[in-house]
Amino acid sequence: MSAPARLAIIGWPVSHSRSPLIHNYWLAAHDINARYEPYGIEPHAIEQTDNPKDDFRAALLNMADEGFIGANVTVPHKEAAFAAMDEVSATAQALGAVNTIRFQDGRLLGDNTDGDGFVAGLGMAPENTDWQNRPALVLGAGGAARAIIAALGRAHVPEIRLVNRTREKAENLKTALLQASDESPVRIADWDARGEMAQGCGLLVNTTSLGMVGQPPLAMKLGGLAARALVCDIVYAPLETPLLRAAASAGHYAVDGLGMLLHQAALSFEIWFGIKPAIDERLRALVLADLEEA
Ligand code: ATR
Repeated sequence: MSAPARLAIIGWPVSHSRSPLIHNYWLAAHDINARYEPYGIEPHAIEQTDNPKDDFRAALLNMADEGFIGANVTVPHKEAAFAAMDEVSATAQALGAVNTIRFQDGRLLGDNTDGDGFVAGLGMAPENTDWQNRPALVLGAGGAARAIIAALGRAHVPEIRLVNRTREKAENLKTALLQASDESPVRIADWDARGEMAQGCGLLVNTTSLGMVGQPPLAMKLGGLAARALVCDIVYAPLETPLLRAAASAGHYAVDGLGMLLHQAALSFEIWFGIKPAIDERLRALVLADLEEA
């Protein structure tokens, strides 16, 4: 049998990533002769050279020589990966960030599955929600918010309300996304107005670090949300945040970070192998057990 093809998650730190567990499960399920491994690239090793952009690209091209056929990219390298590509998808172009690379005939092809993975994860919600026809409220203006807002735009959500502690970052994000589509569904409001902005929304997404392990909880009034609104926290440490607990007890549908994690991975797998892998209960249980161990 020939040597297994290689795939990786590139980041720093990367040892706690669940991507190897998820992708190796699918590789085994489909009997594909490949293995998926963590691949740490220390940011200082790249940034302190004379030519960081070319050096990151050289590191990626070196991976192709080492037998890698694909990779995911995570913090802090998604923007550096974007700059290093020969070609990127329209989705990655709109985000200025790459989370999925194909190494093909010496060329680097970049895509981004984060936002579509988030929206696919919402598919687990019950049928009786109508979040797609109502305004959505997004909290935070980092890279995750950018990917999610772009994907909500592609899903034709009629209005996307964006609030961030630093309003200027929200304005910049809106401007950056405008280059991809002329008519923006994004409306910006002040952080302190987030409770009022929830009025009538069918979807609330927290992309800030509030509610994560070691961070204060997000203070948020949920009273204005539509009756069967989805309330999402994209983190998975912890999986059940104070926001999700409050949402569930108010009768909303709480969506944790596991769906986005699994669905962005599934979309990457499809890019590399042309196969839609199953997100089954056994995989969920494996990842949940791994998260609980941490
Ligand atoms: P990402 O992982 O999405 O790239 P990030 O760039 O680290 O995230 O951004 C974290 C987000 O959490 C930002 O929107 C940040 O708000 P600022 O832009 O004002 O910094 C938000 N955030 C972090 N701490 C916060 C706090 N105590 N209150 C409100 N927002 C906070």
